[in-house]
Amino acid sequence: MANPGRSFVTLCLFLVCCLWCSSLTRGQKENRLQSICQLSSCASPLADDGVVYSMCQDRPGLQVWGRCCVNITDNTHNFTIGLDLSGCNIKDEFFKESPLLPLTRLQKLVLDNNPGITVLSREDVAGLTDLNYISVPTHSNCSCPGGEEAWRQHIRTVNTTVCTDQTPTCTIYDGACPVTTSHCVEDGPGLFLCLCNEGYHGYKCLRQGTFPMSAFLAGLGSSTVIVAAILWVLQRRHVKTA
Ligand SMILES: *[C@@H]1O[C@H](CO)[C@@H](O)[C@H](O)[C@H]1NC(C)=O
Ligand SMILES: *[C@@H]1O[C@H](CO)[C@@H](O)[C@H](O)[C@H]1NC(C)=O
Ligand SMILES: *[C@@H]1O[C@H](CO)[C@@H](O)[C@H](O)[C@H]1NC(C)=O
Ligand SMILES: *[C@@H]1O[C@H](CO)[C@@H](O)[C@H](O)[C@H]1NC(C)=O
Repeated sequence: MANPGRSFVTLCLFLVCCLWCSSLTRGQKENRLQSICQLSSCASPLADDGVVYSMCQDRPGLQVWGRCCVNITDNTHNFTIGLDLSGCNIKDEFFKESPLLPLTRLQKLVLDNNPGITVLSREDVAGLTDLNYISVPTHSNCSCPGGEEAWRQHIRTVNTTVCTDQTPTCTIYDGACPVTTSHCVEDGPGLFLCLCNEGYHGYKCLRQGTFPMSAFLAGLGSSTVIVAAILWVLQRRHVKTA
C-alpha cells in the first residue's frame, strides 16, 4: 500500500528538516551562551583571584570574556572552558532556562556565593564530561551534582563546597550496559550512556533515553530526540507494512 520510493523521500525530508531545526536551536543556544558570559546580575566583575581567571591568565589561545574563559585557538569555534558565576544571584531555575550543555568543553564551573541555589542536580550538568572543578554554595541541601561518589575529591568549607575530578561512572557501574550489544560512555558527573555496538540498535542495548541513531544524536542534543522518535516510529511502521 505504501509506495517505498515516496516513503524514502519523506524520510529524507524529515531528516533534512531535523538537521535544520537542530542547527537553528544551536545558533540560539550559542547566542544565549554569549549572554551567560555577560550576565548582568553579577554583583562585581570577574575576580582576578578565582580559578577561572587564573586558568586563562597568560595562556596563549585563551581569553577572558566577561565571566568566561574562552579557548579561541580554533577560530571557527570558540569554546568556553571556564565559567565563574560567583555572586551572580543565580537561582535554581537558571539551569532550566539556560542549560549548560552547549558548553561541551567546560572544565571549571564556579557557582559559590549564590544563596538562591538550593539544589544542583546531575541533570543540570549532564553531558559535561570535561568538567573537573565545580564549586557550589555550602547548604544543608546543596551538594556537588551527582553526589560525593561522582567526584574524586570534595572540600567543604563554611560557605563553599568544591569538588574536583569526576570519578569514572562506567567503572563504578560496571556491567550496567548489556555487554554484548552495547558499550558504556561517560556522560557527566554520576551519569553514563549505553550506546549500541555496531550492528545493534533498539531498546535492548540503549539506555538513558537515546535512540537507534545514538552516536549521531549525541552530537545534536536532545531537541532532535523527539524528531528522531517520530522518524523511528515511521520507519518501523514502514517496515511492518512493507
Ligand atoms: C584549545 O583548543 C585547541 C584546539 O581545539 C586545543 O588543541 C587546546 O588543547 C585547547 N587548550 C585548552 C587549554 O583547553
Ligand atoms: C572567536 O574569537 C575571536 C577573537 O575574539 C574572533 O575573532 C572570532 O570571530 C570568534 N569566532 C567565532 C566563531 O565566534
Ligand atoms: C532542604 O530540603 C528539605 C526537604 O527536602 C526542605 O524542607 C528544606 O526547605 C530545604 N532547605 C533549603 C535551604 O532549601
Ligand atoms: C561566609 O559568608 C558570610 C555571609 O555572606 C560572610 O559573612 C563570611 O565572612 C563568609 N565566610 C568565609 C569564610 O568566607
